[in-house]
Amino acid sequence: MTENTTDHKQTALVTGANKGIGYEIAAGLARRGFRVGVGARDAGRREDAVAKLRADGHDVFGVPLDVTDDASVAAAAAQLEAEGGLAVLVNNAAITGGMPQEPSQVSADQVLRVVDTNVIGVLRVTNALLPLLRRAASPRIVNVSSTVGSLTLQTAQADAVGPISAAYSPTKSYLNAITIQYAKELAGTGILVNAGCPGFVATDLNGHRGTRTPEQGAAVFLELATLPDGGPSGTFRDDAGIQPW
Ligand SMILES: NC(=O)c1ccc[n+]([C@@H]2O[C@H](COP(=O)([O-])OP(=O)(O)OC[C@H]3O[C@@H](n4cnc5c(N)ncnc54)[C@H](OP(=O)(O)O)[C@@H]3O)[C@@H](O)[C@H]2O)c1
Repeated sequence: MTENTTDHKQTALVTGANKGIGYEIAAGLARRGFRVGVGARDAGRREDAVAKLRADGHDVFGVPLDVTDDASVAAAAAQLEAEGGLAVLVNNAAITGGMPQEPSQVSADQVLRVVDTNVIGVLRVTNALLPLLRRAASPRIVNVSSTVGSLTLQTAQADAVGPISAAYSPTKSYLNAITIQYAKELAGTGILVNAGCPGFVATDLNGHRGTRTPEQGAAVFLELATLPDGGPSGTFRDDAGIQPW
């Protein structure tokens, strides 16, 4: 049975779905009728999240997935193929790489680690899953970015969001850039590729200093994951609307 059949639930995958915003994106997609793969690298954290989501009545399954590991990504793609395909991919997994990150202070290793997770991880996962997405009826790729990656916002505001960061923020600029490139390459295929920002959300990523809840942060990605056919592609938005690159 394929994603194209009408009597079959569409499948979504969320990377880094064991906690934070990714967990709430998984819950929200399940609420909207998707069968959701909970991508997570740690077996215990993955099983706990799957159990919690199932206890809330959601149709989810665990997908072992470390976005920095080619073999893990290939195994996840094989699992999803066996599960019947994939209609929605949400690239959510990311790390900050630790602060402070003043450009004059970062090490090459620190930057490479963040790029490998936040950017190359998205390329690895997306490319491994594109063959499945191409077979889906209304495929969507959603990249979880941040306005700290907006060069316009970073330079237009005296009080620009986010700390000075030579690793994390630039990976979101890079992610925005590849979102545009995927959207250009996939134009006309029916696959819509968009990036969003959740706002400043209280999660482990920022020591829970954020002012929004993970559920509020997830909302924009649920919208992008369920855009109608013919909807926008190659855009960057948050709850307030389109944001500048
Ligand atoms: N929080 C905010 O204010 C904010 C603002 C803008 C954008 N964002 C973005 O929102 C997304 C989610 O962040 P969050 O705030 O929810 O952070 P979080 O609670 O720290 O969650 C990050 C998730 O990514 C996973 N992850 C990290 N490295 C991974 C890898 N190599 N393979 C697979 N999974 C990996 C983590 O898994 P483990 O549990 O195994 O570490 C965790 O599930 C990120 O893309 C972040 O950049 C967040």
